[in-house]
Amino acid sequence: MSKIAVVGTGYVGAVVAACLASIGHDVVGVESNPSRLESLRSGVVPFHEPGLPELLSSQMEKGSLEFTDSYQDAMDGTAVTFLCVGTPSLPDGSPDTNQIENAARSISEWVANPMVVVTKSTVPIGSGRWLNELIDGDRVSIASNPEFLREGSALKDFLHPDRIVLGSDDAAAIATLVEVYRPIIEQSFTGGRPDHRPGLVRTNLETAEIVKYAANAFLAMKISFINEVAMLADAVGADVTEVATAIGMDQRIGSSFLAAGVGWGGSCFGKDLAALQATARSHGLESLITGAVVAVNERQIDFFVGKLSDQLDLAGATIALLGLAFKPGTDDLRDAPSLKVARRLIDFGATVTAYDPIVTSVPELANLAIAPSWTDAVSGADATVVVTEWDEFLSMNLTTLADKMAGDLFVDARNAFNVAAVTDAGLSYIGIGRASAHTPQD
Ligand code: UDX
Repeated sequence: MSKIAVVGTGYVGAVVAACLASIGHDVVGVESNPSRLESLRSGVVPFHEPGLPELLSSQMEKGSLEFTDSYQDAMDGTAVTFLCVGTPSLPDGSPDTNQIENAARSISEWVANPMVVVTKSTVPIGSGRWLNELIDGDRVSIASNPEFLREGSALKDFLHPDRIVLGSDDAAAIATLVEVYRPIIEQSFTGGRPDHRPGLVRTNLETAEIVKYAANAFLAMKISFINEVAMLADAVGADVTEVATAIGMDQRIGSSFLAAGVGWGGSCFGKDLAALQATARSHGLESLITGAVVAVNERQIDFFVGKLSDQLDLAGATIALLGLAFKPGTDDLRDAPSLKVARRLIDFGATVTAYDPIVTSVPELANLAIAPSWTDAVSGADATVVVTEWDEFLSMNLTTLADKMAGDLFVDARNAFNVAAVTDAGLSYIGIGRASAHTPQD
């Protein structure tokens, strides 16, 4: 099909490039970081994402995917360029658009034929309009196509999305993007699910840009909301997991993103909420709900550490921390609740030993010991705290765990364990908002 360039081959760009190649396009990834370029060229993905190394290598072998640092080569004959460069947060919460600006200038320099330039990674609201002015307006149309990829399931999220959002003021640009996405829209690629076609939203630039922020803010809001309910559930003697099940059965609410725990982390939610607040401020508006979503998430760490300190004198305690990644299936530590908890426990004078199936070092926390296995981490511990619900932890032999520990406190920061299984192993269970979970009704 058409030749497509993907500028920036970090997490989002690498997934987008490999997936677009896999549905039949001829894709060139543009990467200015020499070590990342070399790594990708040799088929090595420099981060953890299940299935991506295999997909990337197979598409490179087929000749439908290549990587370059030359805009000149990448722009030659290209009909669509996806911008997937990073937009890290500035101190005031607004996104840093330097990388987008640099990419836009390079595209302008080398654009050879009519092209649609698409912002894919999260960009500040208003970027499309600003790019329109920055890039040669005659030959280039700007579009926004926000990504909704979750780490750990990014390939599935790209190939089987709930919806595809295409925003542009140029109807022809949207039509071009519909063609790019047609195999996904119709689920006609090998492995597609024609009975599960994604929704297609065609809209203007600003609407598409705000969709991304609104979606992430809403998801974070659901989590903060259920975490607040969890606090109440603990106070009154209820079980928040059952509250979540019951309210989630109402289709107006929906059951996903209602798992109470130690709070949300990752590279997107915090950054996007801050950006939404900064955008509101720049328009003289105050974003009350997003502020509360962040505040509840911060308070959740206090709430959690408070629960632990109610049971255990943290000064001098030995604590096993199971899980470091901000969620299972990734090696990402950005904004990880595990690190906030570890820092707090160490500050209170506890000795903390962590184990994670993938993350093997945390340079920024020198006082955090890392064990080579969960059995090593829990040996001699007064308390075991599970912060990331990796499968490896869910299948631990709890009797072995109890035997290895010095104390009997088992803290399930993700409400991921069966309470009876934990207590049957002789452990004392603490969950989040599961005060009544010790006495199951059935
Ligand atoms: C998120 C969005 O889901 C995705 O659409 C967007 O493109 C990027 O941001 P991601 O950061 O990969 O994806 O992780 P996600 O699965 O959404 O989880 C975010 C955090 O919320 C994790 O720390 C997770 O543990 C936590 N979480 C999630 C909860 O605490 N409870 C839940 O019910 C769900």
